[in-house]
Amino acid sequence: KCLQRADTTSTISCVLSSEKNLSCWMVSSLLSDEKNGQKSLHTLQVERQEQAERSVLISCQSSTNEKKFLKYLSKHGEISKYFFYESYGVYAVVEFAKQESVSSLLEGAAIPGGSHESAVPFKSRLLSLRNFSPVDSQNQPSGLQCQPQTTIPISELIKRLSREKSIDKQITSLAEAYQLTEENSRLRFLVCSLLKDIAAAYFPECTIKPFGSSVNGFGKLGCDLDMFLDVDSISGRNVKLSGLSLEYQMKRANSERAVTQSILSVIGECVDQFGPGCVGVQKILNARCPLVRFAHQPSGFQCDLTANNRVAMKSTELLYLYGGLDPRVRNLVFTVRCWARAHGVTSSIPGAWITNFSLTVMVLFFLQKRSPPIIPTLDHLRDLAGPADKSVIEGNDCTFVSNFNKIRLESNTETLEKLLSEFFEFYATFPFSRMSINIRKGKEQNKPEVAPLHIQNPFETSLNVSKNVNASQLDRFVSLCQESSWLLQQSETGTPRGGGGDGGPTPWGLATLLLPSQVAGIKSRKKRRREPASERIKGLLESLKNKNQLKKS
Ligand code: CTP
Ligand code: MG
Repeated sequence: KCLQRADTTSTISCVLSSEKNLSCWMVSSLLSDEKNGQKSLHTLQVERQEQAERSVLISCQSSTNEKKFLKYLSKHGEISKYFFYESYGVYAVVEFAKQESVSSLLEGAAIPGGSHESAVPFKSRLLSLRNFSPVDSQNQPSGLQCQPQTTIPISELIKRLSREKSIDKQITSLAEAYQLTEENSRLRFLVCSLLKDIAAAYFPECTIKPFGSSVNGFGKLGCDLDMFLDVDSISGRNVKLSGLSLEYQMKRANSERAVTQSILSVIGECVDQFGPGCVGVQKILNARCPLVRFAHQPSGFQCDLTANNRVAMKSTELLYLYGGLDPRVRNLVFTVRCWARAHGVTSSIPGAWITNFSLTVMVLFFLQKRSPPIIPTLDHLRDLAGPADKSVIEGNDCTFVSNFNKIRLESNTETLEKLLSEFFEFYATFPFSRMSINIRKGKEQNKPEVAPLHIQNPFETSLNVSKNVNASQLDRFVSLCQESSWLLQQSETGTPRGGGGDGGPTPWGLATLLLPSQVAGIKSRKKRRREPASERIKGLLESLKNKNQLKKS
């Protein structure tokens, strides 16, 4: 009886009772958004952050008895949601209905003893369940239902897609299989909230918000967790002073960048020294955007913590808005991102590869270029903005409308199949050598500088989002687009083929586009001739391994 899901009413009352973030505007926007079915990113963030604050993360034994566990925790108050997942052991995310329950739970928790190691007595909402019951009641099969936090392997995805009856179905099925789940999204906000507790030791009013693919609607299970430490929300800025008043004495630095670096340096050190579950902490403070990178073991997330990165937060909001305008946007982005990863066009290692962010902007641009356009230009979204949407960050105009209802779409009814094939055709023949991709105007522009691939940053318009991409990576992308466009036009690969026997259904349609490529193969063979023998052998083994994996599937 205590396991009710938080419903809309309770969410609103929780926002109402959260004194820190309360503003009339927020509540009215929450109500009006929900009425129209599409929440703004801001509303979603507030709601999820608030849920995360009432949640704890508990490492359990795999033999944990679910009923007993919940009964034990319910002594501290009503549980509104819980789930289990696996990451180096079994964990439970438990969300209480009230904040007091968390305090009560923490009061009863003990600091670990142990003769060999000493504990840093930093208390957090990451806990371990200990079972001191007699041995005979332990080691029972637990039957805990764990929620998946990673995607299915590509070989399994290919099989699943091959069973679908149309390419449209294949595309929606891919997006369904890859998108973040409700549970994974909650876990992401919880990890941010745990990190906030560390940063709050110095900055009690700060918040840590996820941005990038964790919240922009295009995140795939297993994607990194980009976090933004927001110290701008600390009250007392721009207060109108009159008569006598006091202001804080504060240490000053030469620039905002220097302030960001010193904050991240200290918080990074705390995360490293005191942060439970945080390992492999690297402070990368001299990057264009300074960051602290680490792995959060209990969640399995690779985390990038940044501060003073408000433009990235805005581009996240923009992607979220575009993704919510028409379901074809998300479906197509998921498909193109998956296709690009399958062929090594994108990579998890930084380098001269096209990034997922660049790729997403390329899909948006393509959709703006349809006739009639499927999504509006950024300039149009700026024109629709109301006074509350106005935003200028470091001299960059980041204003655009946030209310979905103000945006009127044109009636384009193209199918996903048509769009996917046209996407490949579009970029197979795009004049990359002369033109820049520009979603602000929805039109290609002459390149302002030499770079193989030029994608104008939507807000910092003098920057190129894909500055890192080299000519050979762009060539590979173009060749793969040509190949995929060709494959989709073949009746052999473009229609369901059934059969397959033990090896599963024969790949067709989108599934064939995810199989190892012929052109990439030819290219890499050509390249391999110039590589040392050890590299060639390594590559050969790799391709054999891939082929075997596909056969097994
Ligand atoms: N970003 C940006 N400009 C860039 C790179 C990134 O504004 N040149 C912002 C985007 O909002 C992006 C976010 O920073 O979504 C996070 O960047 P990144 O982690 O590289 O991309 P994701 O969209 O999160 O994709 P992935 O799943 O690959 O992490
Ligand atoms: Mg990311």
